[in-house]
Amino acid sequence: MKVIKEISAIQDISDYYRYTGKKTALVPTMGFLHQGHTSLMIRAKDENDIVIVSIFVNPTQFGKNEDFGKYPRDFERDYHICEKAGVDYIFYPEVKEMYGENNLTSVNVSVITDRLEGEIRPGHFTGVATVVIKLLNAVKPHHLYLGQKDAQQNAVIGKMISDLNIDVGLKICETMREANGLAMSSRNTYLTEEQKIKSSVLYFLLEEGKRMILEEKNFNTADIKENIFKLFKQMTPDYELQYYDIADNKLLTPLEDLGSFEGEILISLAAKVGTTRLIDNVIFNSVLLCGFSPFPWLVVGKKKGKTPRVKNSKKKIFKKNFLV
Ligand code: PAJ
Repeated sequence: MKVIKEISAIQDISDYYRYTGKKTALVPTMGFLHQGHTSLMIRAKDENDIVIVSIFVNPTQFGKNEDFGKYPRDFERDYHICEKAGVDYIFYPEVKEMYGENNLTSVNVSVITDRLEGEIRPGHFTGVATVVIKLLNAVKPHHLYLGQKDAQQNAVIGKMISDLNIDVGLKICETMREANGLAMSSRNTYLTEEQKIKSSVLYFLLEEGKRMILEEKNFNTADIKENIFKLFKQMTPDYELQYYDIADNKLLTPLEDLGSFEGEILISLAAKVGTTRLIDNVIFNSVLLCGFSPFPWLVVGKKKGKTPRVKNSKKKIFKKNFLV
C-alpha cells in the first residue's frame, strides 16, 4: 500500500490503471477510521481491482463553531486499518494541496440542501460537494463508495453527479452499527461510556417510527413525529432531538401522508448528546406499506395475535436503560 500526497501523482496512477483496463474505486473519508469505513473498503475491494481511500479532514465543510480543530486524527492507526482492509493507495493531501492559495470555486447543490443538516449547518454541503468533486477529479475512479449513514450527503452527491454528468458509478453501502444499534461514527469518540449506551435510543426511535408505519399502518407523519418526540423526552430527557424527519429519499421532500407516496422513504434524525451531535437514518421502500408485495419476503406484516419478537427484546433493553 502506498501513500500519495500530490494530486498530480494520484491522477497519473489512476490514468495508468484505466489504461491497463483495471477498475478503480474511491472511498472518501475524513480519517479516524472505524468498521463503517472498512465495510466500504472491503466492498470496494470486492467489486474493483484497485481501491483508493482518501483521508482528508475537509475544512470547508465545518462551520465556524464546529469541531474542525478537535476532529480526531490518527494517521498511523488509519494506515494500518487501510492496509488490513486490502486498500492499494491512501490519498492523503494537505489542505494547501487541495485548495491552493486562492480557491474561488465551489459547487452548490440547491433544494436538497435547504433542510435538515443543510439548515442546521449552513454551507456544510457546499463544502462537501466541492471537496468530493475535487477528490473525484484527483482520483478519477470508476466507482465511488459512500455509506448510508449520511443519507442527505448521499442525495447531494448523487444529484451533483447526475446534474454535472460526472462519469462515476455511485455505490451506497449499509450503515454499520454497534451491538446496541448506535451507528458507528468517528465522532462517537467524543461520547462517554454512559452516553454511548443511552445513544442507542436513536436507532430504537428510527425503528420505532418504521414500525408505526409498517405495522400500525400509521401514515400520518405529523402524528408519528409527535409520538417519537414524546418517547425521546421520556427515555433521554437530558438529550436534545433536533429533528426527526420523514422524507422522500431522492430530493428529501418532506412527506405528510405516506398513503399516497411511492418510492424510498427516509426517516432521519439528529440529536445532541451532551455537546456531541449525532445523525442517523433508516430507509425503506413504500412497497412495504401495502399488505401484499410482489416480494413477499420483504413484507413486515403484523401477524394476528402475535407481537414480533424483535419488538419484545428491544422493549426489554429499553426498559432497562431508559425507563424510570
Ligand atoms: P466520514 O465521516 O469520514 O465518512 C466517510 C464515509 O464513510 C461516508 O460515506 C460515510 O457515510 C461513511 N460512513 C460513516 N460511518 C459509517 C457507518 N457507520 N456505516 C457505513 N458507512 C459509514 O462523510 C465524510 O467523511 C465526508 O463528508 C466526506 C464524504 C469524506 C467529504 O469530506
